[in-house]
Amino acid sequence: MSNNSDSKKKNKKQSETTLEMVPIFIMGKKHDVPATLTIQKAFEYAGYQLVRGCGCRGGICGACGTVYRFPDSYRIEVGLACQTVVKPNMYISQIPFFPANKAVYDIEELEPTGSTVWALYPEIFKCVGCGTCTRSCPMDIDVMEYISRAIRGDIAGAAELSFDCVMCGLCTVRCPSEEVQYNIGILTRRLYGRHIAKRAKHLEDAVENVKQKKFDKGVKKLKKMDIDKLKEIYSARETEPQFGPEEWEPENKDYLITE
Ligand code: SF4
Ligand code: SF4
Ligand code: FES
Repeated sequence: MSNNSDSKKKNKKQSETTLEMVPIFIMGKKHDVPATLTIQKAFEYAGYQLVRGCGCRGGICGACGTVYRFPDSYRIEVGLACQTVVKPNMYISQIPFFPANKAVYDIEELEPTGSTVWALYPEIFKCVGCGTCTRSCPMDIDVMEYISRAIRGDIAGAAELSFDCVMCGLCTVRCPSEEVQYNIGILTRRLYGRHIAKRAKHLEDAVENVKQKKFDKGVKKLKKMDIDKLKEIYSARETEPQFGPEEWEPENKDYLITE
């Protein structure tokens, strides 16, 4: 146990001599960490175990909202810990959970109108249009604009504009009017998905095909393949273009159910 920890310390020391190190402050305590690390990896390098505030590590789950500041600046800056590389003298603190207002509702019973959003989140009208939310968003979403659309009752517009939201909460943390933009955004997307978007006929067909076991033959064939072959056909697969025609079909129809 002690040998193992001695050798870990030795390895850490050796790597520190070859890497450029920068000082950062994690919750007020100074640590020297490699300059190439993200904030998330720097926390772990400094010995912290991330139990909350860490999920996908790839900028998708929104769990790692973080605030930081530099000593020569009054500005509080924000970012995702898994996407933001450390800089010298960052003062860092994570926000693994923010006690945001979250309305409870049954989406089946709601009308896809502005009145629904206004009733569940009346504070939406407190928005002063400062744009801090937009400047804080690590996904480069025009947050203020989707809030404006929700205020105007444009459910489809708010849903579309908030689509890339990862629910990190950094807009809410900075909002002077205490809006919970991301919960308003997801409400509009749920309203759109449940009540406005056209039902996808091909999805119903695909579910029916699954029920009738029409994919079983293809799945059996795939299960017999070795891992390298699977990787090869996965990499070479045709993917449906994002804005392709309704009737798009792949050139290779081996796995296509046509009847
Ligand atoms: S930060 Fe808050 S008050 Fe400012 S524009 Fe965004 S929602 Fe409105
Ligand atoms: S809209 Fe808000 S919660 Fe969503 S990704 Fe941007 S900052 Fe995060
Ligand atoms: S850990 Fe998921 S976005 Fe950072």
